[in-house]
Amino acid sequence: MKALILSGGKGTRLRPITHTGAKQLVPVANKPILFYGVEAIRDAGITDVGIIVGDTEHEIRAALGDGSAFGVKTTYIRQEAPLGLAHAVKIARDFMRDDSFVMYLGDNLILDGITPLVREFERDRPNSQILLAHVPNPQEFGVAELDGTKVKRLTEKPKEPRSDLALVGVYMFDSSIFDAVNAIQPSFRNELEITDAIQRLIDTGKVVHCHVISGWWKDTGKLEDMLEANRMVLSRAKRRLSGKMDGASRTEGEVIVGAGTVVEHSILRGPLIIGENCVIKNSYIGPFTSIYDGVTIRNSEIEHSIVLERCTIEDIPVRIEASLIGKEVRIQRSQAKPTAYRFMVGDSSLVDVL
Ligand code: TTP
Repeated sequence: MKALILSGGKGTRLRPITHTGAKQLVPVANKPILFYGVEAIRDAGITDVGIIVGDTEHEIRAALGDGSAFGVKTTYIRQEAPLGLAHAVKIARDFMRDDSFVMYLGDNLILDGITPLVREFERDRPNSQILLAHVPNPQEFGVAELDGTKVKRLTEKPKEPRSDLALVGVYMFDSSIFDAVNAIQPSFRNELEITDAIQRLIDTGKVVHCHVISGWWKDTGKLEDMLEANRMVLSRAKRRLSGKMDGASRTEGEVIVGAGTVVEHSILRGPLIIGENCVIKNSYIGPFTSIYDGVTIRNSEIEHSIVLERCTIEDIPVRIEASLIGKEVRIQRSQAKPTAYRFMVGDSSLVDVL
Protein backbone atom coordinates (compact mmCIF):
# COMPACT_ATOMS: atom_id res chain seq x y z
CA MET A 1 0.00 0.00 0.00
CA LYS A 2 1.00 3.60 -0.58
CA ALA A 3 -0.08 6.85 1.05
CA LEU A 4 -1.11 10.26 -0.23
CA ILE A 5 -0.84 13.20 2.15
CA LEU A 6 -2.61 16.41 1.14
CA SER A 7 -0.52 19.44 2.05
CA GLY A 8 -1.73 22.01 -0.44
CA GLY A 9 -4.90 24.03 0.01
CA LYS A 10 -5.59 27.66 0.81
CA GLY A 11 -5.95 27.65 4.59
CA THR A 12 -8.33 30.62 4.53
CA ARG A 13 -9.81 29.73 7.92
CA LEU A 14 -6.44 30.06 9.58
CA ARG A 15 -5.43 33.48 8.31
CA PRO A 16 -3.24 35.39 9.00
CA ILE A 17 -1.00 32.45 9.98
CA THR A 18 -1.46 30.97 6.50
CA HIS A 19 -0.49 34.23 4.77
CA THR A 20 3.09 33.43 5.62
CA GLY A 21 3.22 29.69 6.12
CA ALA A 22 1.64 26.31 5.48
CA LYS A 23 -1.07 25.42 7.97
CA GLN A 24 0.14 21.82 8.01
CA LEU A 25 3.38 23.05 9.58
CA VAL A 26 1.83 24.89 12.53
CA PRO A 27 3.21 23.06 15.56
CA VAL A 28 0.95 21.23 17.99
CA ALA A 29 2.88 20.57 21.21
CA ASN A 30 5.91 21.94 19.33
CA LYS A 31 5.69 19.43 16.47
CA PRO A 32 4.23 20.31 13.04
CA ILE A 33 0.78 18.74 12.60
CA LEU A 34 1.97 17.17 9.35
CA PHE A 35 4.61 15.13 11.18
CA TYR A 36 1.95 13.33 13.24
CA GLY A 37 0.35 12.18 10.00
CA VAL A 38 3.62 11.00 8.44
CA GLU A 39 4.44 9.08 11.63
CA ALA A 40 0.97 7.49 11.74
CA ILE A 41 1.44 6.32 8.14
CA ARG A 42 4.90 4.95 8.84
CA ASP A 43 3.65 3.19 11.99
CA ALA A 44 1.03 1.47 9.82
CA GLY A 45 3.92 0.03 7.79
CA ILE A 46 3.53 2.28 4.72
CA THR A 47 6.74 3.79 3.41
CA ASP A 48 5.92 5.03 -0.10
CA VAL A 49 4.32 8.42 0.51
CA GLY A 50 3.10 10.94 -2.09
CA ILE A 51 2.81 14.51 -0.84
CA ILE A 52 0.40 16.87 -2.61
CA VAL A 53 1.81 20.40 -2.44
CA GLY A 54 0.66 23.82 -3.61
CA ASP A 55 2.05 27.33 -3.12
CA THR A 56 3.82 26.29 0.09
CA GLU A 57 5.74 23.48 -1.66
CA HIS A 58 9.12 24.92 -0.73
CA GLU A 59 8.31 24.95 2.97
CA ILE A 60 6.78 21.47 3.01
CA ARG A 61 9.78 20.07 1.14
CA ALA A 62 12.15 21.76 3.59
CA ALA A 63 10.29 20.19 6.52
CA LEU A 64 9.91 16.62 5.21
CA GLY A 65 12.81 16.31 2.79
CA ASP A 66 13.18 12.86 1.26
CA GLY A 67 11.33 11.37 4.23
CA SER A 68 14.32 9.40 5.53
CA ALA A 69 14.21 11.20 8.89
CA PHE A 70 10.77 9.64 9.33
CA GLY A 71 11.56 6.25 7.83
CA VAL A 72 9.53 6.86 4.65
CA LYS A 73 10.23 7.81 1.02
CA THR A 74 8.49 11.00 -0.13
CA THR A 75 7.45 11.91 -3.67
CA TYR A 76 6.16 15.47 -4.16
CA ILE A 77 3.21 16.03 -6.47
CA ARG A 78 2.49 19.64 -7.38
CA GLN A 79 -1.15 20.71 -7.52
CA GLU A 80 -1.44 23.85 -9.63
CA ALA A 81 -4.36 25.15 -7.57
CA PRO A 82 -6.45 23.75 -4.70
CA LEU A 83 -9.09 22.28 -6.97
CA GLY A 84 -10.41 19.79 -4.43
CA LEU A 85 -9.54 16.59 -2.62
CA ALA A 86 -10.67 14.45 -5.57
CA HIS A 87 -8.49 16.58 -7.87
CA ALA A 88 -5.52 15.74 -5.64
CA VAL A 89 -6.32 12.03 -6.12
CA LYS A 90 -6.58 12.55 -9.87
CA ILE A 91 -3.10 14.02 -10.20
CA ALA A 92 -1.62 11.23 -8.06
CA ARG A 93 -2.55 8.58 -10.65
CA ASP A 94 0.96 8.05 -12.03
CA PHE A 95 2.45 7.82 -8.56
CA MET A 96 -0.13 5.29 -7.34
CA ARG A 97 -0.17 3.06 -10.45
CA ASP A 98 -2.53 0.24 -9.46
CA ASP A 99 -1.77 0.22 -5.76
CA SER A 100 -4.27 0.75 -2.98
CA PHE A 101 -3.59 3.77 -0.81
CA VAL A 102 -4.45 5.74 2.29
CA MET A 103 -5.30 9.37 1.68
CA TYR A 104 -4.53 11.54 4.70
CA LEU A 105 -5.42 15.23 5.02
CA GLY A 106 -2.26 16.95 6.21
CA ASP A 107 -4.03 19.17 8.73
CA ASN A 108 -5.81 16.30 10.49
CA LEU A 109 -4.69 14.67 13.70
CA ILE A 110 -5.75 11.21 14.86
CA LEU A 111 -4.32 10.71 18.28
CA ASP A 112 -4.16 6.92 18.24
CA GLY A 113 -2.85 6.56 14.70
CA ILE A 114 -4.34 4.59 11.81
CA THR A 115 -2.69 1.15 12.08
CA PRO A 116 -5.83 -0.91 13.00
CA LEU A 117 -7.82 0.91 10.31
CA VAL A 118 -5.27 0.10 7.61
CA ARG A 119 -5.19 -3.55 8.76
CA GLU A 120 -8.99 -3.71 8.55
CA PHE A 121 -8.91 -2.36 4.99
CA GLU A 122 -6.20 -4.84 3.96
CA ARG A 123 -8.13 -7.73 5.49
CA ASP A 124 -11.60 -6.92 4.12
CA ARG A 125 -10.48 -5.53 0.75
CA PRO A 126 -13.39 -3.20 0.02
CA ASN A 127 -12.93 -0.71 -2.84
CA SER A 128 -12.92 2.07 -0.28
CA GLN A 129 -13.04 2.46 3.47
CA ILE A 130 -14.07 5.74 5.01
CA LEU A 131 -13.83 6.83 8.61
CA LEU A 132 -16.66 8.61 10.37
CA ALA A 133 -16.93 10.43 13.68
CA HIS A 134 -19.89 11.89 15.56
CA VAL A 135 -19.54 15.69 15.61
CA PRO A 136 -21.67 18.50 17.04
CA ASN A 137 -21.32 20.66 13.86
CA PRO A 138 -21.79 18.30 10.87
CA GLN A 139 -22.68 21.17 8.49
CA GLU A 140 -18.94 22.02 8.44
CA PHE A 141 -17.91 18.56 7.16
CA GLY A 142 -18.63 15.94 4.55
CA VAL A 143 -21.55 14.05 6.11
CA ALA A 144 -22.53 10.39 5.70
CA GLU A 145 -26.02 9.01 5.76
CA LEU A 146 -26.10 5.34 6.64
CA ASP A 147 -28.57 2.57 5.95
CA GLY A 148 -27.78 0.19 8.78
CA THR A 149 -24.03 -0.23 8.40
CA LYS A 150 -24.03 0.69 4.69
CA VAL A 151 -23.16 4.15 3.41
CA LYS A 152 -26.19 5.44 1.51
CA ARG A 153 -25.25 9.00 0.72
CA LEU A 154 -22.40 11.47 1.23
CA THR A 155 -22.91 15.23 1.15
CA GLU A 156 -20.25 17.92 1.37
CA LYS A 157 -21.00 20.59 4.02
CA PRO A 158 -24.81 20.14 3.92
CA LYS A 159 -26.95 23.06 5.15
CA GLU A 160 -29.34 20.56 6.72
CA PRO A 161 -27.27 17.52 7.68
CA ARG A 162 -29.10 14.18 7.68
CA SER A 163 -26.79 12.77 10.38
CA ASP A 164 -24.05 13.89 12.77
CA LEU A 165 -21.50 11.55 11.16
CA ALA A 166 -18.64 13.56 9.68
CA LEU A 167 -16.04 12.18 7.31
CA VAL A 168 -12.69 12.02 9.09
CA GLY A 169 -9.72 13.14 7.00
CA VAL A 170 -8.36 9.64 6.36
CA TYR A 171 -9.65 7.56 3.46
CA MET A 172 -8.60 4.26 1.93
CA PHE A 173 -9.03 3.45 -1.74
CA ASP A 174 -8.14 0.85 -4.32
CA SER A 175 -7.53 1.91 -7.93
CA SER A 176 -11.26 2.04 -8.73
CA ILE A 177 -11.24 5.56 -7.25
CA PHE A 178 -9.49 6.84 -10.39
CA ASP A 179 -12.48 6.05 -12.63
CA ALA A 180 -14.68 7.80 -10.07
CA VAL A 181 -12.61 11.01 -9.89
CA ASN A 182 -12.50 11.12 -13.68
CA ALA A 183 -16.29 10.76 -13.93
CA ILE A 184 -17.37 13.56 -11.56
CA GLN A 185 -17.84 17.26 -12.28
CA PRO A 186 -16.67 20.22 -10.14
CA SER A 187 -19.09 21.35 -7.44
CA PHE A 188 -20.64 24.83 -7.03
CA ARG A 189 -17.41 25.92 -5.27
CA ASN A 190 -15.49 24.69 -8.31
CA GLU A 191 -13.76 21.83 -6.51
CA LEU A 192 -13.72 18.15 -7.38
CA GLU A 193 -15.24 16.79 -4.17
CA ILE A 194 -14.06 13.52 -2.68
CA THR A 195 -17.59 12.99 -1.34
CA ASP A 196 -18.88 13.02 -4.96
CA ALA A 197 -16.18 10.55 -5.99
CA ILE A 198 -17.06 8.15 -3.15
CA GLN A 199 -20.76 8.59 -3.94
CA ARG A 200 -19.88 7.59 -7.49
CA LEU A 201 -18.25 4.41 -6.14
CA ILE A 202 -21.46 3.62 -4.24
CA ASP A 203 -23.69 4.38 -7.23
CA THR A 204 -21.64 2.12 -9.50
CA GLY A 205 -21.92 -0.81 -7.12
CA LYS A 206 -18.47 -0.67 -5.58
CA VAL A 207 -17.98 -1.75 -1.97
CA VAL A 208 -17.53 1.17 0.43
CA HIS A 209 -17.03 0.27 4.06
CA CYS A 210 -17.31 2.73 6.89
CA HIS A 211 -15.85 2.68 10.32
CA VAL A 212 -17.07 4.97 13.09
CA ILE A 213 -13.98 5.86 15.11
CA SER A 214 -14.18 6.23 18.85
CA GLY A 215 -10.71 7.69 19.43
CA TRP A 216 -9.88 11.35 19.37
CA TRP A 217 -9.62 13.08 15.98
CA LYS A 218 -9.41 16.72 14.94
CA ASP A 219 -9.45 18.68 11.69
CA THR A 220 -7.24 21.59 12.72
CA GLY A 221 -8.34 24.03 10.02
CA LYS A 222 -9.55 26.64 12.55
CA LEU A 223 -8.01 28.35 15.58
CA GLU A 224 -10.17 26.68 18.22
CA ASP A 225 -9.53 23.24 16.70
CA MET A 226 -5.82 23.91 16.69
CA LEU A 227 -5.94 24.84 20.38
CA GLU A 228 -7.97 21.75 21.18
CA ALA A 229 -5.50 19.55 19.30
CA ASN A 230 -2.73 21.16 21.31
CA ARG A 231 -4.64 20.44 24.50
CA MET A 232 -5.17 16.79 23.60
CA VAL A 233 -1.56 16.12 22.66
CA LEU A 234 -0.24 17.94 25.74
CA SER A 235 -2.55 15.96 28.00
CA ARG A 236 -0.28 12.98 27.20
CA ALA A 237 2.96 14.88 27.81
CA LYS A 238 5.55 13.46 30.20
CA ARG A 239 7.74 15.66 32.38
CA ARG A 240 11.21 16.39 30.93
CA LEU A 241 13.28 19.28 32.15
CA SER A 242 16.38 20.61 30.40
CA GLY A 243 17.74 24.14 30.40
CA LYS A 244 18.31 26.17 33.56
CA MET A 245 15.75 26.95 36.22
CA ASP A 246 16.46 29.13 39.25
CA GLY A 247 15.41 28.33 42.85
CA ALA A 248 12.65 30.95 42.77
CA SER A 249 10.81 29.10 39.98
CA ARG A 250 8.34 26.26 40.41
CA THR A 251 6.97 23.59 38.11
CA GLU A 252 3.72 21.70 38.62
CA GLY A 253 2.54 18.64 36.69
CA GLU A 254 3.80 17.53 33.30
CA VAL A 255 6.21 20.20 32.17
CA ILE A 256 8.66 19.90 29.26
CA VAL A 257 11.45 22.46 28.98
CA GLY A 258 13.97 22.31 26.13
CA ALA A 259 17.74 22.72 26.14
CA GLY A 260 19.20 26.20 26.46
CA THR A 261 16.03 27.66 27.98
CA VAL A 262 16.36 29.87 31.06
CA VAL A 263 13.51 30.10 33.59
CA GLU A 264 13.67 32.63 36.44
CA HIS A 265 11.11 33.67 39.07
CA SER A 266 8.35 31.91 37.16
CA ILE A 267 5.62 29.33 37.67
CA LEU A 268 5.19 26.64 35.01
CA ARG A 269 1.94 24.76 35.51
CA GLY A 270 1.64 21.80 33.11
CA PRO A 271 0.82 20.16 30.96
CA LEU A 272 2.91 22.47 28.84
CA ILE A 273 5.92 22.51 26.57
CA ILE A 274 8.59 25.17 26.19
CA GLY A 275 11.08 24.72 23.36
CA GLU A 276 14.80 25.43 23.18
CA ASN A 277 16.62 28.69 23.87
CA CYS A 278 13.68 30.50 25.41
CA VAL A 279 13.78 33.05 28.23
CA ILE A 280 10.95 32.99 30.78
CA LYS A 281 11.21 35.60 33.54
CA ASN A 282 8.77 36.73 36.25
CA SER A 283 5.99 34.97 34.40
CA TYR A 284 3.28 32.36 34.69
CA ILE A 285 2.96 29.75 31.95
CA GLY A 286 -0.28 27.84 32.44
CA PRO A 287 -1.71 24.51 31.30
CA PHE A 288 -2.07 23.52 27.64
CA THR A 289 0.47 26.02 26.38
CA SER A 290 3.09 25.32 23.71
CA ILE A 291 5.94 27.79 23.44
CA TYR A 292 8.22 27.21 20.47
CA ASP A 293 11.98 27.84 20.24
CA GLY A 294 13.62 31.20 20.88
CA VAL A 295 10.66 32.84 22.63
CA THR A 296 11.06 35.46 25.38
CA ILE A 297 8.32 35.99 27.97
CA ARG A 298 8.82 38.56 30.72
CA ASN A 299 6.43 39.87 33.39
CA SER A 300 3.45 38.20 31.72
CA GLU A 301 0.99 35.34 32.11
CA ILE A 302 -0.17 32.99 29.37
CA GLU A 303 -2.12 29.75 29.17
CA HIS A 304 -4.01 27.53 26.74
CA SER A 305 -2.14 29.02 23.79
CA ILE A 306 0.36 28.31 21.03
CA VAL A 307 3.29 30.68 20.59
CA LEU A 308 5.50 30.23 17.53
CA GLU A 309 9.23 30.77 17.25
CA ARG A 310 11.11 33.87 18.31
CA CYS A 311 8.15 35.80 19.75
CA THR A 312 8.55 38.31 22.57
CA ILE A 313 5.82 38.93 25.15
CA GLU A 314 6.67 41.56 27.78
CA ASP A 315 4.94 43.40 30.63
CA ILE A 316 1.37 42.44 29.71
CA PRO A 317 -0.81 43.14 32.75
CA VAL A 318 -3.66 40.76 31.87
CA ARG A 319 -3.35 37.00 31.32
CA ILE A 320 -3.19 35.96 27.66
CA GLU A 321 -5.26 32.89 26.80
CA ALA A 322 -6.72 30.93 23.88
CA SER A 323 -4.27 32.56 21.46
CA LEU A 324 -2.24 31.47 18.47
CA ILE A 325 0.67 33.86 18.09
CA GLY A 326 2.64 33.70 14.83
CA LYS A 327 6.40 33.77 14.30
CA GLU A 328 8.50 36.69 15.57
CA VAL A 329 5.53 38.62 16.97
CA ARG A 330 6.17 41.24 19.68
CA ILE A 331 3.49 41.92 22.25
CA GLN A 332 4.59 44.60 24.67
CA ARG A 333 3.38 47.35 26.96
CA SER A 334 4.03 50.88 25.86
CA GLN A 335 4.81 53.74 28.25
CA ALA A 336 4.65 56.29 25.43
CA LYS A 337 2.23 59.21 25.55
CA PRO A 338 -0.50 59.66 24.51
CA THR A 339 -1.70 56.49 26.25
CA ALA A 340 -3.15 54.37 23.49
CA TYR A 341 -3.24 50.95 21.85
CA ARG A 342 -0.83 50.83 18.95
CA PHE A 343 -1.03 48.00 16.44
CA MET A 344 0.92 46.77 13.52
CA VAL A 345 -0.91 43.55 12.63
CA GLY A 346 -1.04 41.64 9.36
CA ASP A 347 -4.04 41.13 7.09
CA SER A 348 -6.94 39.06 8.50
CA SER A 349 -5.58 39.22 12.07
CA LEU A 350 -7.77 39.15 15.14
CA VAL A 351 -7.01 41.27 18.21
CA ASP A 352 -9.25 41.17 21.31
CA VAL A 353 -8.53 44.03 23.72
CA LEU A 354 -9.91 44.73 27.17
P1 TTP B 1 -9.35 22.01 3.58
O1 TTP B 1 -9.10 22.36 5.01
O2 TTP B 1 -10.67 21.46 3.23
O3 TTP B 1 -9.07 23.25 2.63
P2 TTP B 1 -8.06 24.46 2.71
O4 TTP B 1 -6.68 24.05 3.12
O5 TTP B 1 -8.13 25.15 1.38
O6 TTP B 1 -8.56 25.38 3.94
P3 TTP B 1 -9.70 26.51 4.08
O7 TTP B 1 -11.01 25.79 3.96
O8 TTP B 1 -9.45 27.08 5.47
O9 TTP B 1 -9.43 27.53 3.01
O10 TTP B 1 -8.25 20.95 3.11
C1 TTP B 1 -7.94 19.80 3.84
C2 TTP B 1 -6.49 19.43 3.58
O11 TTP B 1 -6.29 19.09 2.23
C3 TTP B 1 -5.51 20.52 3.90
O12 TTP B 1 -4.34 19.91 4.45
C4 TTP B 1 -5.21 21.13 2.57
C5 TTP B 1 -5.35 19.97 1.61
N1 TTP B 1 -5.86 20.29 0.28
C6 TTP B 1 -5.05 20.05 -0.84
O13 TTP B 1 -3.90 19.61 -0.72
N2 TTP B 1 -5.57 20.31 -2.09
C7 TTP B 1 -6.84 20.79 -2.28
O14 TTP B 1 -7.25 21.00 -3.43
C8 TTP B 1 -7.65 21.04 -1.10
C9 TTP B 1 -9.04 21.56 -1.25
C10 TTP B 1 -7.11 20.77 0.12
